[in-house]
Amino acid sequence: MRHSSLVVVANRLPIDDSIAPDGACEWRRTPGGLVSALHPLLRHTPATWVGWAGGTGPAPTLPDVDGVHMRAVPLTAEDLRDHYEGFANSTLWPLYHDAVEQPEHHRRWWEAYQRVNRRFAEAAAEVAEPGAVVWVQDYHLHLLPGLLRAMRPDLRIGFFLHVPFPPPELFMQLPRRAELLRGMLGADLIGFQRVQAAHNFAQLVAKVLSLPATDRRIGVDGRVVRIGAFPVSIDTAEMAALAARPDVAARAQRLRQDLGRPERVILSVDRMDYTKGIEQRLKAYSELLASGHVKVRDTVLVQVAVPSRERVGQYQILRERVEREVGRINGEFGRVGEPAIHYLTQPFDRAELAALYRVADVMAVTPLRDGMNLVAKEYVAARVDDTGALLLSEFAGTAAELSQAYLVNPHDLEGLKEGLLAALHAAPADVSRRMRAMRAHLHEHDIRAWARSYLSALDETGPLVRRLVSGTDAASITVPGQPDRSATRVEHPSGG
Ligand code: ADP
Ligand code: F6P
Repeated sequence: MRHSSLVVVANRLPIDDSIAPDGACEWRRTPGGLVSALHPLLRHTPATWVGWAGGTGPAPTLPDVDGVHMRAVPLTAEDLRDHYEGFANSTLWPLYHDAVEQPEHHRRWWEAYQRVNRRFAEAAAEVAEPGAVVWVQDYHLHLLPGLLRAMRPDLRIGFFLHVPFPPPELFMQLPRRAELLRGMLGADLIGFQRVQAAHNFAQLVAKVLSLPATDRRIGVDGRVVRIGAFPVSIDTAEMAALAARPDVAARAQRLRQDLGRPERVILSVDRMDYTKGIEQRLKAYSELLASGHVKVRDTVLVQVAVPSRERVGQYQILRERVEREVGRINGEFGRVGEPAIHYLTQPFDRAELAALYRVADVMAVTPLRDGMNLVAKEYVAARVDDTGALLLSEFAGTAAELSQAYLVNPHDLEGLKEGLLAALHAAPADVSRRMRAMRAHLHEHDIRAWARSYLSALDETGPLVRRLVSGTDAASITVPGQPDRSATRVEHPSGG
């Protein structure tokens, strides 16, 4: 068995088993923010990634991917239903996203959540070498840090939450709230996307567990657990280089032709999720078409919505509603050979996504609530000529960083329509000024800066950071929102 000094534990592995047209099994990168963030970062690093390979039954033995060892954890059909689709995605996911859909509570789901967290913890304990860093990701695995600490007190354990952490009044609804908080406190460092999330967590720990807590430090069992905000990012340079490739530029030109050479292309790229505000966006677009403010002749909307969590009822209902609405809008406003909306549900490779970003004059990213939203960052990175308007929801984590976007409240239909029109008709100089500022921000705050700030705070002695982020001088590592300081002496990781 291979042992590693860095172990990443996430519900999903960065590959998925899917059936090719000829019936063979093929492996590919899965759509989703977590994999998009971590995969480029860990590539060519001697690390082990512990996660689920996407099916049920015995865990497959997988080849290394770009030098990263893949350790699959098996899920039974019951685990899939009660842990992944149940507790993770029908209890925690809606609750953490402002309860925009009703969270469900079932005791059977909680049992599965405990069982699966234990199985992942055992797998991580097996592959971690003595004193290793184990970096646990996301809401599927809240209990894992506590379980792992009990099994392997020698480890340095980090936990990072990719989704929002809700305000106390929502979290308090959870029947097993104390156990979830305790589980997370097994970590040495707990990272959130936003300062507000760290604040919510500290308040809850003080209230539910009566532990001494500030927005930066929590005392538990004679240990100090540090908390802070570390906004996740993308491989900015990689996306920019991809978008600048001649074949991608040519593909973008061809796409514009295929779209009928409209004056304006609006693009949205989402997982099919009720948090993404797809229905609100379609309603706004439909009203603009009805009022004549937008004309099919000169403007098209390309909506990419890749299906997600397809067996969960709320996701099935959403897909039906979105597809019915797209059909209605196209029927009512489209013309022969000129649909109002180009609707695509396929997963695309990175080059095709980059070409789509390049062809989009306006990118509409309008979630009702989103931990970060890397799609918005990818669009900015791909606009290598500083053109393109980003229409961005105030409720996406990205909005805290990309404040030069055209910001909208997606719950306010009139505001959403006005924002879309403003982005469509903005003066080129204004668009460029905003895009330049956002691009400059992302060049500095890319995925490596994120990993450096998090891992240098977790692994205070620093060697891991140097190894992970090649070509980096660990002495110059900084923590977001903090004055520059050495990686070896980060006292307060919080951005707040
Ligand atoms: P989430 O984590 O909720 O899925 P993000 O916007 O943070 O949302 O991340 C989505 C990631 O999935 C991005 O990296 C994006 O490029 C990728 N993605 C979204 N749609 C597709 C698609 N149709 N094909 C391939 N990748 C996709
Ligand atoms: O960002 C939240 C998240 O659950 C990630 O963990 C994951 O990358 C993405 O959404 C996709 O979700 P799933 O793994 O359920 O397909």
